[in-house]
Amino acid sequence: MSFDVSAEAYDQFMGRYSEPLAPLFLAASGVEPGQRVLDVGCGPGALTARLVERLGPGCVAAVDPVPAFVEAARARCPGAVVRLGDAQRLPFDDASYDVVLAQLVVQFLPDPVEGLREMARVAGPGGEVAACVWDHAGEGGPLSPFWGAVRALEPDVLGEAALPGTGEHDLARLAKEAGLTVTGAERLTVRVCHETFDDWWEPYTLGVGPAGAHVASCRGDSAERLREECRRRLPEAPFEVQASAWSVRARA
Ligand SMILES: C[S@@+](CC[C@H](N)C(=O)[O-])C[C@H]1O[C@@H](n2cnc3c(N)ncnc32)[C@H](O)[C@@H]1O
Repeated sequence: MSFDVSAEAYDQFMGRYSEPLAPLFLAASGVEPGQRVLDVGCGPGALTARLVERLGPGCVAAVDPVPAFVEAARARCPGAVVRLGDAQRLPFDDASYDVVLAQLVVQFLPDPVEGLREMARVAGPGGEVAACVWDHAGEGGPLSPFWGAVRALEPDVLGEAALPGTGEHDLARLAKEAGLTVTGAERLTVRVCHETFDDWWEPYTLGVGPAGAHVASCRGDSAERLREECRRRLPEAPFEVQASAWSVRARA
């Protein structure tokens, strides 16, 4: 799995965007103090930590299939339940949480509808489910400058725009297919400043996610050509990357 990397590598590559996204997603999900909330595909804990701040560790659980991420989330969120597990077979009982969230996860599931159905099982009838996914299909995600450069050199590569849920209305459609009643949809936008081009580029060389896997698969001078194409397309540093995600809220 291209997320089988250290928590530090993940945080350098994606945490820089998912950390500022977490409070926006939390607000869009309508989580209230007193609720018990499960964070599915928690990674090293960007959203889990915000949930703990808002609800207290006793009301928060999280799950991820990558052992290094589970360990990092446990260290970051003492007192919260953090389990190793898969979104399509959640290690939690029926109706055991009021709200089940997934930030930037549904697009990586082999069967996203099955994953959303499983989230609904754990939320129970009337429980809340919410998910968000970067706008890769609309080229509004944080990695769009990178995938745009890849496509300039290799027009056949679709990159993460091909993943399910990354276009407008896609998540709502998947949620309805999973039997959920959609109650809200929002576009969430963060802006992240990169001080130098290398600060932006270096995390792409750490092998994280499909973009990191793509760089790792480059042979000969193709990684260097890709780096130069990215540099050519990006503004002079320091520059800002604007990243938007589609967010959906639904009732089980
Ligand atoms: C882009 S990261 C998002 C992590 C975290 N939610 C955040 O916002 O920083 C995608 C996460 O999905 C997890 N993931 C991938 N496949 C999964 C699966 N089948 N079940 C649960 N989580 C999965 C990865 O391990 C990774 O932590």
